[in-house]
Amino acid sequence: MTIEGSFEAKPGQFYMLRGIGSFMTLSRPISVFDVEADKIAFMYRVVGEGTKYFSKLKEGDEITLYGPYGNGYPVSDYKDKKVALIGGGMGIAPLFYLAKQLDNAEIHLGLNSRDLTAEQKQYLGQLYATHAPTTIHIDTDMSEKLDFSKYDAVMTCGPEIMMYKLTKKHENVYVSLEKYMGCAVGACLSCTCDVAGKRVKVCKDGPVFKGSEVSYDDAIKLL
Ligand SMILES: Cc1cc2nc3c(=O)[nH]c(=O)nc-3n(C[C@H](O)[C@H](O)[C@H](O)COP(=O)(O)OP(=O)(O)OC[C@H]3O[C@@H](n4cnc5c(N)ncnc54)[C@H](O)[C@@H]3O)c2cc1C
Ligand code: FES
Repeated sequence: MTIEGSFEAKPGQFYMLRGIGSFMTLSRPISVFDVEADKIAFMYRVVGEGTKYFSKLKEGDEITLYGPYGNGYPVSDYKDKKVALIGGGMGIAPLFYLAKQLDNAEIHLGLNSRDLTAEQKQYLGQLYATHAPTTIHIDTDMSEKLDFSKYDAVMTCGPEIMMYKLTKKHENVYVSLEKYMGCAVGACLSCTCDVAGKRVKVCKDGPVFKGSEVSYDDAIKLL
């Protein structure tokens, strides 16, 4: 979804999107996919009523958005360093704009064989490759497949179990957490979780955290 206007955002930040008027009581958090001089783009998957509403919008329709929110990935620390960008499922969304701002990134897109057609996967691969060398991994545990020793850092977004496993493979892993969000400004407490032994708000303190500081309680239960 592309929205015309003048926007500024850092890779890994997100906007809160909702329909015009009263539809959708709460806005939905969606990562910045790309920003250009006169527009911003979002990439989303239809999972519930909010994203279904977005999918029915037509060219010229209006939408309400607030943001950008959150901290974003540490781009300036790794601008010219070798960085692996690893996305799983819809977690690939923030990596496009991230790769655009890094000089020496390598992109790894982890996709599920059931989710997309071969043409769609090929399209995604070509799209991301405009910013950095891109490999698509189908139904693959990327934590077992990649050689992490060649990277200065790993920046990732996707299922928590994937990010938990990646955190074990490298010292400098930065993860973007996904939680249900009501306000995005730290007021409703719907997005709290444990990081570095403290209760934090993913919307305000994150969504990007040092992977080694995150408590992956839910992910560990799945192992
Ligand atoms: C920082 C951030 C960035 C994000 N970026 C993107 C992005 O770029 N693209 C994208 O597609 N998505 C993104 N998401 C996820 C997206 O915001 C959610 O999937 C959102 O809930 C979709 O809204 P919806 O109304 O379509 O679905 P919802 O109605 O919110 O439902 C989504 C799914 O979650 C289940 N669900 C709903 N509420 C709960 C609950 N309280 N507990 C457990 N399960 C529940 C529903 O049954 C359904 O399966 C992001 C989330 C965060 C926090
Ligand atoms: S979404 Fe309300 S505190 Fe984070």
